[in-house]
Amino acid sequence: MSDPLKVAIAGLGTVGVGTVKILQQHADVIENRCGRAIKITAVCARSNKDRGVDLSGYEWFDDAAQMAVKADADVIVELIGGSEGIAKDAVDAALAAGRHVVTANKALVAHHGQALATMAESKGVSLNYEAAVAGGIPVIKTLREGLAGNAMTRVQGILNGTCNYILTTMREEGRDFEEVLKDAQDFGYAEADPSFDIDGVDAAHKLAILASVAFGVQVNFDAVHIEGIRHISSTDIEFAEELGYRIKLLGIAAMTEHGLEQRVHPTMVPLSAPIASVEGVFNAVVTDGDAVDTLMQEGRGAGEGPTASAVVADICDIARGIMVPTFGVPVANLKPSQPRPMGQHVGAYYVRMMLVDEPGVFADVAAALRDNNVSMVSMLQQTSESGDAVPVVLTTHETKESDMNSALKAITALDTVVEAPHMIRIESA
Ligand SMILES: NC(=O)c1ccc[n+]([C@@H]2O[C@H](COP(=O)([O-])OP(=O)(O)OC[C@H]3O[C@@H](n4cnc5c(N)ncnc54)[C@H](OP(=O)(O)O)[C@@H]3O)[C@@H](O)[C@H]2O)c1
Repeated sequence: MSDPLKVAIAGLGTVGVGTVKILQQHADVIENRCGRAIKITAVCARSNKDRGVDLSGYEWFDDAAQMAVKADADVIVELIGGSEGIAKDAVDAALAAGRHVVTANKALVAHHGQALATMAESKGVSLNYEAAVAGGIPVIKTLREGLAGNAMTRVQGILNGTCNYILTTMREEGRDFEEVLKDAQDFGYAEADPSFDIDGVDAAHKLAILASVAFGVQVNFDAVHIEGIRHISSTDIEFAEELGYRIKLLGIAAMTEHGLEQRVHPTMVPLSAPIASVEGVFNAVVTDGDAVDTLMQEGRGAGEGPTASAVVADICDIARGIMVPTFGVPVANLKPSQPRPMGQHVGAYYVRMMLVDEPGVFADVAAALRDNNVSMVSMLQQTSESGDAVPVVLTTHETKESDMNSALKAITALDTVVEAPHMIRIESA
């Protein structure tokens, strides 16, 4: 057997402790699988408190960036988090010192992936980040290795468990967004400041990384169109079911003739689509490749065990001597992403409006659509007691988003429209 692979872990929170546990509890099976032992030599966190795992025998560092260069280690595992600050300093220092890096930090990879991959490549070391996207689902390995023979056309997924839990609970219990969010925070599924999750930023970090690996393009987080789930109401969820759809926060990256679409937004998917039944805190990633056809992976996207499972798999790759370019192709071959503007997106739409219940209202809405080249598929309305405003929804045929936006502007300007219409995009599968 070869010498043990020596590992230093920065960050001993949920994922850090999970990683220590797996490396300790499964030391024998991991050694057998990798042909060499994996030994933790050093650890680092903010405070040296008891974490319920035995850390004796590991060198302690107060400073992660110092540990990255001074620890007796082949691999630095960064499990602190954040795109800037100490996490970035530690990863920069480790790569500059020619040490392999494993991280679960999607924000870091989404914002600095290109520079970090360049550094890793120039030093001949790995930068592995499986845990950064969809937690326990080995989607990076699937795209980079398992699907290496495919031309990809689309990758999409439920990439944020908190949003999926909120949308699932709203539907199952017929409750409103704010109330369910509060429960999610109480149960520990949502952070005290939930904005990264519910405003779609976390999913966008993951999508930018997936798009790079799927399409061989530079990571371009700034090109991701991002909408969260705050404006989704229980009325939308009810109407969606009535129309045969379920609402999911999807991250979608699609290569089109006119460039790369990267978008995160609430999406209506047909009830018959496999992704519609991915519920609660679960994540799923659906990949369309020309040879493999459509492939869906589902699993836990967060939490101690699933995330640490991915971290340990990345460490095992290094122990086995498996090195794959960070984003699947050498950095110099990554193409600029050539974003397709959202206005050019073509798709079907759902629109919910509050209309005054009086004659001629529907004709005005239909005219606003017609004048902007939008053709309607269906219209549903809830009954009104006495001439009050009523919720009305419509769905459209495929149309260009810029036309849809013009139609929405025209509808908003109608006297009989009580509040600005809410639009949700529909994906066929
Ligand atoms: N939790 C998940 O389910 C999950 C899933 C996928 C990816 N991730 C990613 O995994 C990473 C870690 O997440 P987590 O949930 O484990 O976070 P966490 O529970 O908040 O743990 C963060 C750890 O970093 C340490 N830390 C913070 N500032 C530090 C500093 N200046 N120097 C040294 N250590 C410092 C903390 O030390 P103290 O304990 O002493 O405060 C803590 O141990 C993040 O990038 C996150 O996005 C997490």
